[in-house]
Amino acid sequence: MRKVFLLVLTAVLAGFFSFSIPVIAADYPDIAPLPERKAPNPKAVELGKALFFDARLSGDAAISCATCHNSEKGFTTTMPLSEAYPGSKHWRNAPTLLNIVYKGKTYGWDGRLDDLDDMLRDMITDSMNMNMDMQLMQERLKQDPKVVQMTKDAYGDKNMGTSQKGEMTHYVARNAIIQFLETLTSKNVPFDKGNLSAKAKEGMDLFKGKAGCIQCHNSPYFSDNKPHNTGVPENPEVFKDPQRHFTYVAYMMFMGVDNRMNWRRDVGYYTISKDRKDVGKFITPTLRELKYTAPYMHNGMFSTLDEVIEFYNQGGGEDRPGMKDAAMKPLGLSSGEKDALKEFLLSLSGDPIAIEMPKAGKKIEYAPVPNWKEVRN
Ligand code: HEC
Ligand code: HEC
Repeated sequence: MRKVFLLVLTAVLAGFFSFSIPVIAADYPDIAPLPERKAPNPKAVELGKALFFDARLSGDAAISCATCHNSEKGFTTTMPLSEAYPGSKHWRNAPTLLNIVYKGKTYGWDGRLDDLDDMLRDMITDSMNMNMDMQLMQERLKQDPKVVQMTKDAYGDKNMGTSQKGEMTHYVARNAIIQFLETLTSKNVPFDKGNLSAKAKEGMDLFKGKAGCIQCHNSPYFSDNKPHNTGVPENPEVFKDPQRHFTYVAYMMFMGVDNRMNWRRDVGYYTISKDRKDVGKFITPTLRELKYTAPYMHNGMFSTLDEVIEFYNQGGGEDRPGMKDAAMKPLGLSSGEKDALKEFLLSLSGDPIAIEMPKAGKKIEYAPVPNWKEVRN
């Protein structure tokens, strides 16, 4: 009985003081420099890089990974909502691919896949992304002697899946791209080098304490990889533009979401869990390389870090009662504190990663379209 009384008393007191108890950073996996990774095979990296920029990976041979994950724009684009396969328009922001090999699980804003190879398969085959068939891609690539040679050089001594040693298959293509992604990691990041200004240090203390960012943005990747509802406002473009809206509706249909003609919001993690309490949750993104990756959030609704910090300072956005994450509370940051927090966020960006665009492989010469009238006659 006494035990129960004490438990209740503790709970009441904890509730009472919850506004004043500072976030205990030790409760979360600490933010830290990125750990070293095993160096990828340089020949495979070369092949992967060529494929990353190769439009033959898309159905109509017009767009490549780099169309939406642009190396000059932090491996995303400056558009709030992403490019999409011609004939459709995307309803989400293209995330950066910098440090993606550290993510480890839950890919996509709604966390629909937990494996990088699977995510690449989706990128290539999804109708709104590259709309390509894996077998067709494989056979196309095998027509290019340069690709064939590069594959032999990189995978000559390996059996990948069911392939012959050194043979180009769609599995090999994805593996090579992943090896290329291994090279897209932060370089010379002040935070990783322990080289923070006094102001950035103040910002880090806020990040771990008063501002509570570490509750979701933690570990070396600055993400807990979990879904949260922060109340980011909807991007009205998604519902105003029929092409964007039907692309989103088609995705919901594919994922088996109910009531899909009526949703006027991106349901986020609900797509996966089908649990109403998950509507509006998105997977926490990394905070590395933000200097290069604006605009921010799943729908690009914020174009500057000042806007993002003000958003958090006000306790996030609006949603129905009980929907927003309990961690989203007004922070009461002074303008000096907001500056310090921004300084810390900027210290998580390193040197720009310049990729010299590889020379494209041989262009496929398609046979001219026949005149069907003549063919029939
Ligand atoms: C037409 C635009 C487009 C193309 C082309 C494209 N992507 Fe994406 N990519 C996106 C968008 C948009 C998302 C976010 C999707 C979502 O959350 O629903 C994404 C997500 C990803 C993710 C998950 C990132 C994360 O943080 O979870 C990876 C990895 C990725 N793309 C890699 C690639 C690779 C590699 C290629 C080329 C094979 C490629 N993408 C081609 C637009 C594109
Ligand atoms: C409750 C968990 C949670 C807390 C606490 C939190 N975030 Fe976030 N953060 C998220 C999620 C989830 C998103 C993506 C939301 C979306 O797109 O709808 C996000 C997105 C962001 C982005 C955009 C990144 C990008 O590439 O688009 C920035 C910047 C950011 N948060 C900074 C902060 C800062 C600074 C704090 C502390 C003041 C903070 N966050 C606190 C969960 C959280």
